[in-house]
Amino acid sequence: MKTNIVLIGFMGSGKTTIGIRLAYKLKYLFIDTDKKIEEEMGISINEIFRIYGEQYFRNLEKTFIKKLSNSNKQVIATGGGIIKNKQNIEELKSKGIIIYLNASPEHIYNNIKDDDSRPLLQVENKMETIQSILNERKFLYEEFADIIIDISYNQVDEITQIIIDKLGGKIF
Ligand code: S3P
Repeated sequence: MKTNIVLIGFMGSGKTTIGIRLAYKLKYLFIDTDKKIEEEMGISINEIFRIYGEQYFRNLEKTFIKKLSNSNKQVIATGGGIIKNKQNIEELKSKGIIIYLNASPEHIYNNIKDDDSRPLLQVENKMETIQSILNERKFLYEEFADIIIDISYNQVDEITQIIIDKLGGKIF
């Protein structure tokens, strides 16, 4: 039985917030791939992009996903671009159940509009950029997901419960 839970989805869709809550409720370990990369590098994602560029960050992501332990009972919140690399998804699928947190562009915009921690969204027109990246990626999120959860209309606790209900017998 696969007992890790992997959260995928666009920036600002609540993977970290919901992941922490879900891990707490299930008594699982919470892992945030972005946080781990920042810890390993000793600098922020913004700085990694600025100093080394996006491709370098994608390689760090890939290396981290490969190294992720095969332990059970982990909730893994991934960076929004994790699905750009098929190998990442294959690794993650072999370790757990993939849940796509599906958020509307408006919801994403509201969540990130005052947050400058995301290099790809440090642009003039944030909404347009969100829509355009989401258009490129949406089908990948959907294709790789075992479960899709619409998160635009519920609070964190409700979403967490919906996820637990949907997981049903798939976890212990
Ligand atoms: C990215 C999402 C970010 C972070 C980096 C790139 C992306 O993570 O990995 O800024 O390409 O969507 P969050 O989804 O946690 O914001």
